[in-house]
Amino acid sequence: MPQPLSTPNLEFLRTLSVLYVEDEEEVRNAMTHFLSRRFARIDVASNGQEGFALFENGRQDVVITDIKMPVMDGLEMSSMIKSIADDVPVIVVTAYNETDYFLRAIEIGVDRFVKKPVNPSELVEAIQKSTQVHMQQKQLEKASLQLLNTLQTAIGALSRAIEKRDPYTDGHQKRVSQIATAIAEEMKLPKAQINGIRLGAMIHDIGKISIPTELLTMPGKLSRIQFELIQTHPQAGADILEGVEFPWPIAQMVLQHHERLNGSGYPKGLKAEQILLEAKIIAVADVVEAMASHRPYRPALGLDVAIAEVKTQRGVLYDAEVVDGCLKVLERQDLRL
Ligand SMILES: [Fe+2]
Ligand SMILES: [Fe+2]
Repeated sequence: MPQPLSTPNLEFLRTLSVLYVEDEEEVRNAMTHFLSRRFARIDVASNGQEGFALFENGRQDVVITDIKMPVMDGLEMSSMIKSIADDVPVIVVTAYNETDYFLRAIEIGVDRFVKKPVNPSELVEAIQKSTQVHMQQKQLEKASLQLLNTLQTAIGALSRAIEKRDPYTDGHQKRVSQIATAIAEEMKLPKAQINGIRLGAMIHDIGKISIPTELLTMPGKLSRIQFELIQTHPQAGADILEGVEFPWPIAQMVLQHHERLNGSGYPKGLKAEQILLEAKIIAVADVVEAMASHRPYRPALGLDVAIAEVKTQRGVLYDAEVVDGCLKVLERQDLRL
């Protein structure tokens, strides 16, 4: 639990690295001595240029700087630091309280001001106040990343379990997930949405668990009835996932991955605007992967045939933007199918 701000949490402060920039040697030495007993690491510079170079290398947790210094002043350095790391707290220590400094500092995004001569406990409190929120946010990000990794591992295990029943499609969902993720990245979708696509694609065929193995591995052409049975897998998958509260519409991605732009897909015959973008991306990745791989009823058609198919059906069966993204990904050839 975070402690009240008025009581500096010394243990927390001891985990931080500090960049301290001050041109007056006497002040700098005294303050460095004071700070080095309270923080994990202190990097010291005597002007803005040196300070920025130290920041580029060290990426300290907090920056404390004087304003008026030779070579480069503290505000110019702060502005450069904020341009490469806008979430790093910058505390300005200054004897100057003129409005123009103040306004410039606000504009740059300086977090706090401490007046010279510095009262050490005031400075420690300022550091704590400006770093605490930042550090809590970092911890929160770390925790949610761990959660995402766990979820990804669990879904990967589920994905492999489904494919154990059908050796011909072993690794299919993983490869579809890799292609779909690469397309989503190529389309510059938000990170969170890409994470959802990665996971949705990993289990897009989860509904095949309800289809007899003999049917999945049957060589030759399927009868109409058999094909209709295979076509139940998106709905079966959505039913399995119903009630699982993912932060992404995974069940809908699974349900819609065989829908096609012109309404010729299944199970609902949805049209372009009714289909989730995530499902449109998984659809293209699915087709490309399936065509490029061997199936019990036919040998692999190869990547060229897959590319020709999505190009011909661009804007007809498959979303034009998604196809363009996919072609760019395949052109780069950084994906092994
Ligand atoms: Fe499928
Ligand atoms: Fe599939």
